[in-house]
Amino acid sequence: MDFEHLPHAAPVPSAARDDALKNPGFGTHFTDHMVVIDYDAEKGGWHRATLGPREPITLDPAAAVLHYAQEIFEGMKAYKQQDDGLALFRPEQNARRFNDSARRMAMPELPEELFLESIRQLVAKDRNWVPTLPGGALYLRPFMFASEAFLGVRPARQYKFILIASPVGNYFKSGAPAVKIWVSRNYTRAAPGGTGAAKTGGNYAASLVPQAEAIEQGCDQVVFLDAVEKKWIEELGGMNLFFVFDDGSVITPPLTGTILPGITRDSLITLLREEGLNVREEPYSIDQWRADATEGDLLETMACGTAAVVTPVGTVAGPDGEFTIGSGGPGQVTTKIRDKLVAIQKGAAEDTHGWVMQL
Ligand SMILES: Cc1ncc(COP(=O)(O)O)c(C=O)c1O
Repeated sequence: MDFEHLPHAAPVPSAARDDALKNPGFGTHFTDHMVVIDYDAEKGGWHRATLGPREPITLDPAAAVLHYAQEIFEGMKAYKQQDDGLALFRPEQNARRFNDSARRMAMPELPEELFLESIRQLVAKDRNWVPTLPGGALYLRPFMFASEAFLGVRPARQYKFILIASPVGNYFKSGAPAVKIWVSRNYTRAAPGGTGAAKTGGNYAASLVPQAEAIEQGCDQVVFLDAVEKKWIEELGGMNLFFVFDDGSVITPPLTGTILPGITRDSLITLLREEGLNVREEPYSIDQWRADATEGDLLETMACGTAAVVTPVGTVAGPDGEFTIGSGGPGQVTTKIRDKLVAIQKGAAEDTHGWVMQL
């Protein structure tokens, strides 16, 4: 499909852009352009692609997304390379997960190549929005929603795919070397058979109250337990977890449909195995977590995701009190694996798995 390029009457002046790039924060500044692709079942599906100014969109008040929440999204980064180029990390995995989410939410799939081409087009256009500060990247947010105007519970027949981009620095404002996690006992994130494995807005809306509870308790993030037995550790609001033990084994919760299959998670499983660690995808309970940390069998816990990369969990707090993991700061495995991943993403280490796509 050809992308129609629409003119931009008033891009952000370069001085203001340079200012924004000095300290971009996370998700508060946006580049000048966006991609929009329209879907209409009656017009043969995906039919019009534009690359134009980033601007407000008009929606009919009966647009299905506003009532029945047919919405999915992805999150990925374009990384500045050591040689000054730009690269994506495993973007085809985001394209695939986007379509997995689409199927779960009864939405049309977007051809993988069209997903990737939209990213190439936007990044080429807004290349001067990539921050150069350490840890900085251009965060890409592809999303799709039901735009058809009707009331009634059925899959919509019209959708919009939109891609926007945001220059970002570090995810955690505190820049803390380790995060403190709140164990939610009152709320769960996803039930078996639900939408936990899909990247759909409702999952995140449901996490806001428990996340607010975490903040109230002086924590950075909430960790969810399974919805049935309320004992198995699932994931954080936006990150997967790994537990590192003193016998060289590592556990990460299995993909049973209630957690998001993280691309960082999948990459870490490979990288940790390359380090000779015995990584197992199996259930791990909150009680065992506390016991292993207290007895010293558990050395480290790390959280991982595109936004915050690899972040050590230092302290865990819940209604039954607190416990500390290892020294409460970043452990050796966490630091090593984070550095290894970041080096691959930046083009500073050899990409032996074909994970990096140069732009
Ligand atoms: C709920 C949830 N879990 C895990 C992740 C980590 O996934 P990834 O490594 O693909 O960014 C994310 C972020 O996308 C998320 O939103």
